Amino acid sequence: MTAPVLEICLSESDAADALHHDARVGLSADPKWLAPKWFYDARGSELFEQITTLPEYYPTRTERELLRRSVGKIAARAAVDTLVELGSGSSEKTRLLLDALTANGSLRRFVPLDVSESALRSAMAAVVQEYPQLTVHGVVGDFTQHLELVPASRGGRRLVAFLGGTIGNLLPDERASFFTALRTALDPGELLLLGAGLVTDPAVMVPAYDDAAGVTAEFNRNVLRVLNRELDADFEVDAFDHVAVWDAAHEWIEMRLRARRAMTVRLPAVGMTVHYAEGEEMRTEVSGKFWREGLRAELADAGFADQAWWTDPQERFALLLATAV
Ligand code: SAH
Ligand code: TRP
Repeated sequence: MTAPVLEICLSESDAADALHHDARVGLSADPKWLAPKWFYDARGSELFEQITTLPEYYPTRTERELLRRSVGKIAARAAVDTLVELGSGSSEKTRLLLDALTANGSLRRFVPLDVSESALRSAMAAVVQEYPQLTVHGVVGDFTQHLELVPASRGGRRLVAFLGGTIGNLLPDERASFFTALRTALDPGELLLLGAGLVTDPAVMVPAYDDAAGVTAEFNRNVLRVLNRELDADFEVDAFDHVAVWDAAHEWIEMRLRARRAMTVRLPAVGMTVHYAEGEEMRTEVSGKFWREGLRAELADAGFADQAWWTDPQERFALLLATAV
């Protein structure tokens, strides 16, 4: 067993600068908005893990089932020496890939990358125990900025997994830049495995982001706790209601926080005082849903070909394997 390596591309001071910047820009905009990566402090990452087990949250179990069905074919197509995982979180479903890729004998290294150092550390500790034959090289980083820091393959090929529908949390222009940057970071012949939510019935999609037990509401409000802690802000967390709506024009679920009454919030670390009107809504996250042809075209435009596609019988979620050309 080799000791795991943890590379920090995003130091605490980089993260603090980025949070200051995002808070300044988002909270002075009209309507106000916050960037979603700030959900994932240690508590946020734990709340997300709870979300993945909720009865309403179909994406995780649907994707797990798709992985179960496809890993054999993925491993047969790709003799890869390195599995990179972007936004890896707990890497729970990833075990299915690790099992199949180690069984075919080619895999040597696992490179999970996440902004959440706490989630990354605990996932790495578990993977190191379960797969003692693998080199585990974690990267604390931002997948919209640090793709070029992902280590190169060692004379073989890499498979990059980007699961959980996290691609939908990027806005369309960010998504196009991300696909292009990812393609640039790869060599021809290297592979992308993408998990994406599909457009389906709003009566199915909306409850997945507004569960009866209120876990998603807590997750959403957690971003205010992060601002209170990191920016000395004084958001009254419980005075904001969780809102999730299907935006049919943009084909995304939009998460918002709605001020229950008029409030003035101070954020001394960024020298701001922010006013909320009663009922004012601030956007905290989008979760884009896709159509097969749309996703195929976006990937083709970025330089990914030979796409294989798996979906569940209800066509709620898709896994897509594509080759960089
Ligand atoms: N892949 C896991 C987790 C999905 S939740 C699954 O399928 O269940 C999204 C994950 O992406 C979280 O772990 C979060 O910390 C991470 N994340 C969000 N924005 C990120 C960014 N810009 N760069 C790197 N990681 C990010
Ligand atoms: N990638 C997940 C998704 O879009 C993230 C997520 C799930 C999420 N539930 C959420 C983000 C609630 C914000 C709020 O499904």
